[in-house]
Amino acid sequence: MTGTGRAVSHPCGALHGEARAPGDKSVSHRALMLAGVAVGETRIDGLLEGEDVLATAAAMRALGIEVERTGPGSWQVNGRGVGGLTEPEDVLDMGNSGTAARLLLGLLATHRLTATLTGDASLRSRPMRRVSEPLSRFGAAFHGRAGGMLPLTVVGTGFPVPVRYELPVASAQVKSAVLLAGLNTPGETVVVEPSPTRDHTERMLRHFGASVQQEEDGVVRLTGEPELVARPVSVPGDISSASFPLAAAAIVPGSRVTVAGVGLNPGRIGLIETLREMGADISVTDERVEGGEPVGDITLAWSRLAAVDVPPSRVPSMIDEFPILAVAAAFAEGTTRMSGLAELRVKESDRLGAMAAGLAACGVEVRESADTLEVTGGQPRGGVEIASRLDHRIAMAFLVLGMGAREAVRIDDIAPVATSFPGFVGLMNELGAAVEM
Ligand code: S3P
Repeated sequence: MTGTGRAVSHPCGALHGEARAPGDKSVSHRALMLAGVAVGETRIDGLLEGEDVLATAAAMRALGIEVERTGPGSWQVNGRGVGGLTEPEDVLDMGNSGTAARLLLGLLATHRLTATLTGDASLRSRPMRRVSEPLSRFGAAFHGRAGGMLPLTVVGTGFPVPVRYELPVASAQVKSAVLLAGLNTPGETVVVEPSPTRDHTERMLRHFGASVQQEEDGVVRLTGEPELVARPVSVPGDISSASFPLAAAAIVPGSRVTVAGVGLNPGRIGLIETLREMGADISVTDERVEGGEPVGDITLAWSRLAAVDVPPSRVPSMIDEFPILAVAAAFAEGTTRMSGLAELRVKESDRLGAMAAGLAACGVEVRESADTLEVTGGQPRGGVEIASRLDHRIAMAFLVLGMGAREAVRIDDIAPVATSFPGFVGLMNELGAAVEM
């Protein structure tokens, strides 16, 4: 397991080998939640056993669902059908996970129960009105702090009305919260997306037997009160986690790394597209479909990177990959321009601010505005300590930067890495990195 406390990433030689990324975090949350409202026993394989997903498992148990770990990554959920959750006796602690909190608020909004959700200092500072506002339209009530943040109490409705909701921001979490509320609602729930986001919820709803239509103009329609039936779920490797070893191979000369069994959902592959445009040598092999999701093995062989402009239209498909892209850009020739990044300010930390400050501290030329980041590449100096700010991806991004920098990079606390990538340090060191804890 990746530990707690300080870590140091020393400059290292070429990285080589094959690794398997941990289970996809987005798919893992959805598997536990949907299995809980399907009828019967669902077996889940490849579940991410990171802290975020364990928070979802604990919450489902507190809501009356039997959830059992049967082996490494293998879990069994005894679902009670749509509308089958029961009132929890205590506050639900969602830890660091925005996805867990927002999707669960969606499910709970149309159950006749009252529940209070909280989380760590990072999650308690993240916006929740983006879900409580549309969920109120179903008839649920929300009581919480000024600003609508956690801790937040949802009083679910026993008489929900279906909703048509046009998302003001492209957010798979908000889309999913509305769709999950639509499950225990008669009639048709409709969500309209301004631009496409990951569709794991839609795919998994269909996998369990719901009728979900995705139309070309961004309209998603769910027929309410479906009979969801337990089905085995195989969770693919997380492309957001895979992006760290792949990016490490992209910046350390002579490297060649394969990550096997990675989910290739079209709403998640923006980083691969961007690295290819920068000149990275990436091949995808053994493409297949597992449990309704496209999967493949990704190999990246080192080559020189050149700066690119990343269009705002690509942001949703790589929303979690900007910290590691900014690191790759710090090694590319020229200035990489990224725009349309306002959402990065409300992730586990203000990722735009964290990357700009951290890269500047490492000696990289960087410019930041409200929603843009410009990074001029070279060979970063490193030689500093970076604060991880309760943000796993900030911690991992700067550990990767240390691998290719002139001097080591320290991280004040790598505990947050366990939310999405337990075992990150061991896996990177097996590929040839020199990270000490
Ligand atoms: C997620 C969606 C994204 C992403 C998050 C996981 C999901 O958030 O940043 O890590 O599982 O739906 P938004 O959809 O709010 O941008």
